Amino acid sequence: MAASSPGTIYEAIGGAEAVRRLVEAFYPKVQAHPLLSPIFPEDITPVMEKQYMFLSQFFGGPPLYTEAYGHPMMRARHLPFPITPERAEAWLACMRQALEETVEDESLRMLMLERLSGPAYHFVNQP
Ligand code: HEM
Repeated sequence: MAASSPGTIYEAIGGAEAVRRLVEAFYPKVQAHPLLSPIFPEDITPVMEKQYMFLSQFFGGPPLYTEAYGHPMMRARHLPFPITPERAEAWLACMRQALEETVEDESLRMLMLERLSGPAYHFVNQP
């Protein structure tokens, strides 16, 4: 299988390096957010690596996450963590900022945020 296909968001933003920059901009914001930091581990490095792998495939790049961990089942993987609607909003706000810092093209940023919004609200598991 090709590592990634042309015409994907992954390719459009600049591939592996761009996803890496996005993840590196995102997690410091998560760790600084009062609603999010309490549910994330202090050592964020393993989470960053998994997110790098996941977002690569989510945006049409190589299926790194699935190769390493199997079917993503992301909602199930989030069930141990209390995710309220406010936390979903906070996660998306951090992502919006990270996208503004790392992806130049505004329409691409909007598309990416839109793609992530569905899953984010779908992962809500607490009122
Ligand atoms: C809705 C708000 C969200 C919150 C509050 C949240 C929170 C978390 C937490 C607490 C973890 C586990 C950290 C640990 O390992 O201890 C995690 C893991 C992860 N999250 Fe989220 N998350 C959210 C949305 C998302 C979205 C929208 C995506 C991507 C579509 C995503 C992708 C991931 C991935 C790939 C992992 C690593 C899974 C693994 O352990 O293999 N998350 N998240």
